[in-house]
Amino acid sequence: MKLRYKVLNVILILVAVALVSLALALSHDSACGPAPLLPNKAQLMKAIVYRCYGSPDVLRFEDFEKPTAADDQVLVKVHAASVNPLDWHYMRGTPYIVRMDSGFGKPENPRLGVDFAGTVEAVGKNVTRFKPGDEVFGGKFGAFAEYVTVRENRALALKPASLTFEQAASVPIAALTALQALRDKGRIRPGQKVLINGASGGVGTFAVQIAKSFGADVTGVCSTKNLAMVRSIGADHVIDYTLEDFTKGGQRYDLILDNVGNHSLLEYKRVLTPKGIFVIVGGPTNGQWIGPMVTPIKALVLSPFVSQKFVPFLAELNQEDLTVMRDLMQAGKVTPVIDRRYRLSEVPAAIRYLEEGHARGKVVISLE
Ligand SMILES: NC(=O)c1ccc[n+]([C@@H]2O[C@H](COP(=O)([O-])OP(=O)(O)OC[C@H]3O[C@@H](n4cnc5c(N)ncnc54)[C@H](OP(=O)(O)O)[C@@H]3O)[C@@H](O)[C@H]2O)c1
Repeated sequence: MKLRYKVLNVILILVAVALVSLALALSHDSACGPAPLLPNKAQLMKAIVYRCYGSPDVLRFEDFEKPTAADDQVLVKVHAASVNPLDWHYMRGTPYIVRMDSGFGKPENPRLGVDFAGTVEAVGKNVTRFKPGDEVFGGKFGAFAEYVTVRENRALALKPASLTFEQAASVPIAALTALQALRDKGRIRPGQKVLINGASGGVGTFAVQIAKSFGADVTGVCSTKNLAMVRSIGADHVIDYTLEDFTKGGQRYDLILDNVGNHSLLEYKRVLTPKGIFVIVGGPTNGQWIGPMVTPIKALVLSPFVSQKFVPFLAELNQEDLTVMRDLMQAGKVTPVIDRRYRLSEVPAAIRYLEEGHARGKVVISLE
């Protein structure tokens, strides 16, 4: 008994030491290193790079080695990119848990950005789905650059001819988030009452239109200045959050997609139907440690005790859903809403603007 107690104690101490070490390693910030020397004969391109975590001030607009397509890859000349909250989470390395992927102390990959649209410049010898000259859009780390390489079976699809590169570049993360949250997690059905909290941002403007394309009765929550825009993209009802708190109203919803996380889960529960589903897309970003993960953890605790479903959610970029979005846009059911445009060298300003939390649709980077 005594030995067992001692072993347990040792195990607990080891776990505690491991956790503290992990916490220290995750929260450690290395200094910004210099740019490495570029190979003499390297072909160069312009890119946004970062070599340490921090504010937009750590971003540099630099020469970088132009990539070449491997056998199963497509080389895309980027004409437009778009900015997402994910970009500034990676730039700042917060919440720290992000660093399990992006790198301890400093970013492993100095390139930033994900969403892009452009023209295929070259393809590897095993590529069959794309050819030089194809106009495409997709998602790949390092999109804030003149060129990206993507595997042909990853998040890459042909751009609808009716869309500009800027519109197409605004789609991948935000639209796939909205689509997967509504369709896969929310199990949206025609005639359902669906509420989109944060209807005027990147995810929200896609969510309103996608929910309408599924035949739902859509309510969008936004501030006064965005009411007309949210109505114009198809919302049946709009609620001005500066005047009215929807969690205190009489209406019940079958599905709530929450991009904001500004109410408690019990407040949301109050306005869900008894079998309603609440999908947690975004949440408060304060808190260095687990930030946006706080609400999903609370949802896991609450779920066994209520009839409604509170569903944490993480979007996945894939070719199939980019194709679904292409078809929706080609059919005229979804049109990206673009707020501001910046040049590639102005990515720091674009991120600063997005971080203020009041983008009106998508913020795009134009390389044309
Ligand atoms: N789970 C995932 O896989 C996933 C994927 C993508 C994004 N996200 C998260 O989802 C969230 C939204 O992303 P986004 O790209 O749409 O961000 P965004 O473009 O920055 O959108 C911010 C929007 O939030 C609205 N807003 C701010 N306060 C509000 C309030 N109290 N009530 C209603 N709306 C409010 C703003 O509208 P006003 O100007 O009218 O205030 C603005 O339009 C972020 O937290 C992001 O990290 C999660």
